[in-house]
Amino acid sequence: MASPNIKAVRGTRDLLPPETDLWNRVESTARAVFSRYGFGEIRTPIFEDTSLFARGVGEETDIVSKEMYTWEDRARAASEKAQSLTLRPENTAGVVRAYIEHKLGDTGNLQKLFYIGPQFRRERPQRGRYRQFWQIGAEVIGPPTSGAESPIRDAEILEMLATLLDELGITGWTLQLNSVGSATDRPRYVAALKEALAPIKHQLCPDNQRRADTNPLRVLDSKDEADQDLINALPKIADFLDAESKSHFEQVLAALDACGVPYTVNPRLVRGLDYYTRTTFEFSHSVGLGSQNALLGGGRYDGLSEMLGGPRAPGIGFAIGEDRLILTLQAQAETAAQTTKLDAYLAPLGIASNPAALSLARDLRRQGLSVEVGDGSFRLKKSFDAADKLARHIVLLGEDELSTNIFTVKTFATAEQKKIPRADLPTHLRT
Ligand code: HAM
Repeated sequence: MASPNIKAVRGTRDLLPPETDLWNRVESTARAVFSRYGFGEIRTPIFEDTSLFARGVGEETDIVSKEMYTWEDRARAASEKAQSLTLRPENTAGVVRAYIEHKLGDTGNLQKLFYIGPQFRRERPQRGRYRQFWQIGAEVIGPPTSGAESPIRDAEILEMLATLLDELGITGWTLQLNSVGSATDRPRYVAALKEALAPIKHQLCPDNQRRADTNPLRVLDSKDEADQDLINALPKIADFLDAESKSHFEQVLAALDACGVPYTVNPRLVRGLDYYTRTTFEFSHSVGLGSQNALLGGGRYDGLSEMLGGPRAPGIGFAIGEDRLILTLQAQAETAAQTTKLDAYLAPLGIASNPAALSLARDLRRQGLSVEVGDGSFRLKKSFDAADKLARHIVLLGEDELSTNIFTVKTFATAEQKKIPRADLPTHLRT
């Protein structure tokens, strides 16, 4: 008996040509843009000590509590200890670990690092959500004297992302941002949130009831329809920012205004990783992604280096979901292909109509219309199928049409069929 075929593991996929050409184009455009902003590439291992993510990303986050691929690495010698290892679910913690390990802060300079590579999360797979997915990310980090904390760094990152998306030809993206405050603002806000959630908790969905206990900030980015009114009425983080955080955020917004980068402030954008302080952001896109519409996310993490036992090193960064970026580009290309269809497909009905069809095509083309001509030997269905792929309208040329000079025209988008006199054809076919 033949053994069953082995398939790619659920949530993972093969990328094949010609799609890989698009991946390469995206990556080379990203590299070119990053180098104009002074970023250099960092490559960190795809697995790390589990405690890096537990401490960096946060024990209570969905990523660490539910989604990591973790295993016990066996000791190979009596002198070795077994170690818990994890496939990286994200790369900011790894980059900051490398920053600390290689004492990159000792140069006194701002470090601008980018990476491109796979990440792993055991999520429920769906379009735009995979268990192995790719991120294109970047981090700006340095000692406080390097200016790493400055709002100009936040604005520069956001402006660079807007430039990258524009250069890739992604149209219609939206940027939402927020400030989640400093390490001292956040606990004050979380306490207020807990207090406000206590009396209404029982009215929330079970997921949000759990979050209210374990990680109340996560209630804010819940998409549960029924809970929205209650969530909108909760206290806003903006009212808990200290003067410095407020001014920091205002300076980020002013620099974005100066650069003409459009944005919306969303007071509920807290994001799902614990290391964020002050600015958080997401770029979304509505075409081709369904519910997984976050193209990329990021924010500031001024305390992360210290959380990992390193020196004080404020930082900010982002990660683009490359799979989602590609899906968006593909969906846009499909829309573009539809809009670049020819004006008309002329279908002669019988070979006797071929000369008249070619002559009509000649006239229309000379008037600036884009036209394809079929062949009178085609059956009607074949003509319709060919026309539907290539053009917005099909024009039928049978004996009747040629003797009366009134043509039957079908418009595919509306399925409307009309009789159009010869003189009105150009105007009608342009619609
Ligand atoms: P994140 O929001 O968890 O942030 O992920 C960033 C992006 O990765 C998301 O916006 C999404 O496009 C993509 N992504 C996440 N999970 C999946 C998945 N299962 N399948 C496909 N794409 C996915 C981070 O990872 C932070 N490290 C970003 C950052 C860098 N913050 C500061 N620096």
